[in-house]
Amino acid sequence: METAITPLSGGSKSNTIEVSLATDLEHRYPMPGCIAIVYVAELQILSGNAVRQFGVTIDGLPSKLLNIPDYLITDTMYSREPHPCSSNYNITITAASNSTLPPILNAFEYFSVVSTANLGTVINDVSAMGAIKAKYQVKKNWMGDPCAPKKFAWDGLTCSYAISDHPGITDINMSYGGLSGDISNHFGDLKDIHYLDLSYNNLTGSIPNVLAQLPTLLVLDLTGNQLTGSIPAALLKRSQDGSLTLRYDNNPNLCGNNTCDRSIGSAAGKKNSSMLVVYIAVPIATIVVTGVLIVLLSFRVRKKKGPTRGSNGHGHQRLDNRRFTYKELEVITDNFKIVLGQGGFGPVYDGFLQDGIHVAVKLVSQSSKQGIREFLTEAQTLTKIHHKNLVSLVGYCKDGKYLALVYEHMSEGNLDDKLRGRDCNAVFLTWRQRLRIALESAQGLEYLHKACSPPFVHRDVKTSNILLNANLEAKVSDFGLMKAFNHDDDTHVSTDRMIGTPGYFAPEYARTRQLTEKSDVYSFGVVLLEVVTGHSAVLQCIEPTHIVQWTQQHLAEGNIEQVVDARMQGDYNVNGVWKIMDVALKCTAQDPAQRPTMTEVITQIQECLELES
Ligand SMILES: *[C@@H]1O[C@H](CO)[C@@H](O)[C@H](O)[C@H]1NC(C)=O
Ligand SMILES: *[C@@H]1O[C@H](CO)[C@@H](O)[C@H](O)[C@H]1NC(C)=O
Ligand SMILES: *[C@@H]1O[C@H](CO)[C@@H](O)[C@H](O)[C@H]1NC(C)=O
Repeated sequence: METAITPLSGGSKSNTIEVSLATDLEHRYPMPGCIAIVYVAELQILSGNAVRQFGVTIDGLPSKLLNIPDYLITDTMYSREPHPCSSNYNITITAASNSTLPPILNAFEYFSVVSTANLGTVINDVSAMGAIKAKYQVKKNWMGDPCAPKKFAWDGLTCSYAISDHPGITDINMSYGGLSGDISNHFGDLKDIHYLDLSYNNLTGSIPNVLAQLPTLLVLDLTGNQLTGSIPAALLKRSQDGSLTLRYDNNPNLCGNNTCDRSIGSAAGKKNSSMLVVYIAVPIATIVVTGVLIVLLSFRVRKKKGPTRGSNGHGHQRLDNRRFTYKELEVITDNFKIVLGQGGFGPVYDGFLQDGIHVAVKLVSQSSKQGIREFLTEAQTLTKIHHKNLVSLVGYCKDGKYLALVYEHMSEGNLDDKLRGRDCNAVFLTWRQRLRIALESAQGLEYLHKACSPPFVHRDVKTSNILLNANLEAKVSDFGLMKAFNHDDDTHVSTDRMIGTPGYFAPEYARTRQLTEKSDVYSFGVVLLEVVTGHSAVLQCIEPTHIVQWTQQHLAEGNIEQVVDARMQGDYNVNGVWKIMDVALKCTAQDPAQRPTMTEVITQIQECLELES
């Protein structure tokens, strides 16, 4: 603004400034129009009778007002409504008739308007809110996108609207919302939330740990519910260090610590409850601190001891991940309190590391010799392979007779349970979600087959070995049976014992006990059929029927609707479904040579996903 242009005096056009701008703008979207802004500021102290006054015409549209710029004060003129963009953009500034001085122009800006109608809420928030809405059957005006358009944002939500980014949910007020059931874990997916008010509902069950992991949560109000169990230590800790305001009065059965003392809770006045926080929070914080010290000390000691690991009869196994003692596992799993499921060689427990990372701890049952061998295969393999669609190893424990693997926790469980609706949240997977899960697990398998040298055959591909994280991203797990084989001297792995899971065995494996990558492709074909039909690998009809047979029989009648999982309520592209069926049946061909590779399978699934977008 410190400089301006003005016409040369004496010229034929000494009273006019013309700016013509070639606007070869490249636009991906049709443009609703353009807006220009003109800036002027007087840079001279005008003497006596001198007058500077002018009118501005932007693209043929004259402004009504004549402008007298003030000394060193910026003034702006702009078109209020966007007007159609032309390829040449003209600004004309003409002196008024009684002006003694020529016009000036200090600066101008030119904007094209871009529609923000397509900018929906951050996708993670949308899926979380979708699950929350379904779980609590929220009525209100909860339809369409949660935050957009702003005018129709869902009641009870506050969103942040950055100019160049998707809106995100920052506050949720579901107070007096008539909510019942437990607190959905999906609240834990709302990563930008500051304020969560669930007060005065009928919420039952315990407070999920995931709430403690919300990085920006400032207020959590659970007042006036029927919550039970204890308050997660991580939440109490945040409440105590002042980073979180936690309210939980009037929950008669909620306990403040692990040893549930009902008398304190039910005698509940406000005063008692807030005292409870102090009494309980202090000991827990102390435990946490000592815990950290113990961990640090034991790590120190172990480092000094050096490479004694794995030298007791199991070959020279080297594991590069973090190593835990059995004692540490007890802390992590809260004394093996919550069983997540039963793995191939023992139970899997829920746990939290000191830094709040949610993990699953797979303990090898001490009785099984086989288990130990498979455990070591899995541990060794996992330290070598890393892919976003393979479950990753956080660490392991090899402490005397105790063997355990510590994995990242996959909060949405496995695909088998999801497809069968065994998940208590019972939100059925949409076709798009199914395709995505199929694609991601196929990518995990492709990596095993192609990216590793020597390549791996998983040998136990099935829906219950495909795990889902909070964002429903799929990761292949359970590498206990996996075998590496070398392409150069051997094209298959021969094993003496039938391993794997009935229903998923490739026919040649059952006949000859020989395995190739194509055996995994067969199993994956079965997975694809389950994804489409929702049935399990072996259907319990009048007599047990394999899913391949069952599908072929039904498709022979030309009736795809009968085959597709009815819970998708017809919400899919039929061509895509046929395509996946076709791939699945090719994968399950009797002759391994006829089956596609995982790379080919991935291409097909990607094409189906494009049909859905
Ligand atoms: C702008 O000026 C150019 C050349 O001076 C002319 O060809 C064009 O028609 C003008 N555009 C408008 C919208 O007046
Ligand atoms: C110049 O003339 C316009 C009308 O053309 C008038 O509105 C304005 O007040 C005049 N300015 C001065 C400084 O006399
Ligand atoms: C939350 O919602 C309840 C019920 O609709 C309302 O009474 C309360 O004022 C809201 N709280 C805030 C902070 O807006």
